[in-house]
Amino acid sequence: MLALSHSQTLFLSLTSLCCAGISLHLAIPNSFIPHFASNRSAALSFVSAHLLPFLPRTPIHSLSLGADPLSSDLAPFLLPALYNLQAALSHTSLTHIKVSTTLSFSHISSPFPPSSAKFHKSISEIQPLLDFLSLNGAPLFVNLYPFSLYLDDPTIPLGFALFREEPFSYRSDPITGIRYRNLFDAMVDAFGCAMVKAGQDSIPIAVAETGWPTQGANSDAKAEASLRNAGFYNKGLLRSMREKGRRKVKVEEAYIFSLFDENMRPGPEMVSHWGWLYPNMTMKYDLDFFASGACRLRRGAFWSFSIVGLLLVVAVAVAVVVLNG
Ligand SMILES: *[C@@H]1O[C@H](CO)[C@@H](O)[C@H](O)[C@H]1NC(C)=O
Ligand SMILES: *[C@@H]1O[C@H](CO)[C@@H](O)[C@H](O)[C@H]1NC(C)=O
Repeated sequence: MLALSHSQTLFLSLTSLCCAGISLHLAIPNSFIPHFASNRSAALSFVSAHLLPFLPRTPIHSLSLGADPLSSDLAPFLLPALYNLQAALSHTSLTHIKVSTTLSFSHISSPFPPSSAKFHKSISEIQPLLDFLSLNGAPLFVNLYPFSLYLDDPTIPLGFALFREEPFSYRSDPITGIRYRNLFDAMVDAFGCAMVKAGQDSIPIAVAETGWPTQGANSDAKAEASLRNAGFYNKGLLRSMREKGRRKVKVEEAYIFSLFDENMRPGPEMVSHWGWLYPNMTMKYDLDFFASGACRLRRGAFWSFSIVGLLLVVAVAVAVVVLNG
């Protein structure tokens, strides 16, 4: 009974998250990009209306402007919009909030082995964005869905996509010598290599969305989308974040999509089965965020914790969904 795809629930959700000690990453919908780009006061009024009322009680540590705007006709507006949003944050003394955008994996061409990866777009198109991130010390947010890649590529073994470490389940990169034991690490490094080729080797990567569905919508994905596999995937992800994976590129933070099933979300049936919790907030499968003492609670919150300098906030998936609505 949770319909979170409505802008009014943004207010309710941020209000209810207030004081819970949860640090938020917020996603701003694509529709704001042209306004921010053409009008600096639109960015300023967004900050005043949507961020200032909740600060400092609800810490917000990053903003992602747009969901893959570079793949749409909004691409020319992205940079001016980012600069105006950054200026609005400077104006309100909120420069500790990092401004970024989120890219999907479809921007990467020839991702395997990761050392061969590069951006589809020309360097002159991608460089201004990377320069902006580098200038402001912001990470690049990426959506990584090994599930989709696995469905599209029959040569990828299921165990490799699911973090199931099996003796002969690895892919080596002949250039770097890295032996990848899971698809997630290979996808992260593909983004890292593409950024190096575009001239930036110090921009951190943050994973805005990753996860595995528990129920499929069509006959193809029926078997793979299951409670068991979602459990394998998300447990493997937590382990990989704790152990830093066997990848070259550091992942600053990762957000699991999603905290709970959205049974009233429009669109294909499968999008409503990515949750860790049922809509009634009972757990669908066991996931121990605090295993082996590597995670610790931040400020007593239930689902905000840091893992050796890494912040992994599941609750944020909720906020992301809300703002995307
Ligand atoms: C710029 O944005 C402000 C705040 O949203 C709005 O009041 C104003 O009308 C906008 N100006 C233009 C030229 O669109
Ligand atoms: C929550 O929902 C799930 C799935 O619909 C159901 O199996 C479970 O029994 C429910 N739990 C409670 C406590 O209502």
